Amino acid sequence: MTQAGIRLLAPAKINLFLAVKGLRADGYHDLATVMHQVSLCDVVQIKIDEKPGIRLITTNPELADDEGNLAYRAAALFMKKAGLEQGVDIFIEKHIPLGAGLAGGSADAAAVIKGLNLIMGAPFNDKDLLAIAEMLGSDVPFCLYGGTVLAWGRGELLSPIAAAGEPHFVLVKPPFSLSTADVYSTWDKRGERCYPPVTDMVEALGRGDWRKVGASLYNSLETVAAGQHHEIPEIKARLLSLGAEGALMSGSGPTVFGVFRGYTDAKQAYLELLRDYTECFLVSSYRPEGRE
Ligand code: C5P
Repeated sequence: MTQAGIRLLAPAKINLFLAVKGLRADGYHDLATVMHQVSLCDVVQIKIDEKPGIRLITTNPELADDEGNLAYRAAALFMKKAGLEQGVDIFIEKHIPLGAGLAGGSADAAAVIKGLNLIMGAPFNDKDLLAIAEMLGSDVPFCLYGGTVLAWGRGELLSPIAAAGEPHFVLVKPPFSLSTADVYSTWDKRGERCYPPVTDMVEALGRGDWRKVGASLYNSLETVAAGQHHEIPEIKARLLSLGAEGALMSGSGPTVFGVFRGYTDAKQAYLELLRDYTECFLVSSYRPEGRE
């Protein structure tokens, strides 16, 4: 018998700034990154059932429906930490492309722990939930927190940024995926060791100056991935020629996004790129409920 259910949006993120500072003893890399949620969302439905176990269904047949899926592991970890024995049924309507640098898997996992906490009567406070998120992956704490943040450490230490303005973004995912671990290990061999200060980006966001945001975009991993995949600089050049204030690869790639101040220019660029790329999206900023 089904007892309770919830439906949540799981928004994708883009990295407006990503400086890789160095390899740590634990195998992760120290970062300074600005992450920004956008309105490209998966839809996550969760139901509690008396029949024990976790059952996951997604609309993308390429995705694992067991421990190989981060959302599944998120549900298992939450129930274990809470000492709960009921079953969990999860249905994920996938819209965020896989292996894209948009944190789709992390967004789903964050939605699962947020949703379970709501359905189960809040066994955890915000701090406990962030600790669970951190155990699941470097991007999961941000996906749980949401909005726009400056993150450091391996990505789990978060400081919110009040980002003003109403920008538009065109996201283009070339027809291949990249492994985050592979991109970071290539950075170890030949990545850029110098990076600009993050302060220009943070100030521009605070002022809602999206021209300056466009000029301050930076990603240490972009040259690493672009050196192996010519589509990345090609998409970037096209976005800029179509009027973007700036364009950048997101996270460990390969998705490239362009920042636009006006909707008309963004829409025109989107329609142009859609002719050549199936996975092309016109999105805006996503603001979590209750936040400006
Ligand atoms: O934390 P997560 O499981 O998402 O990370 C996937 C992989 O990305 C790690 O195994 C690691 O190779 C790389 N990574 C890293 N430094 C980070 C985040 C991720 O090296 N700050």
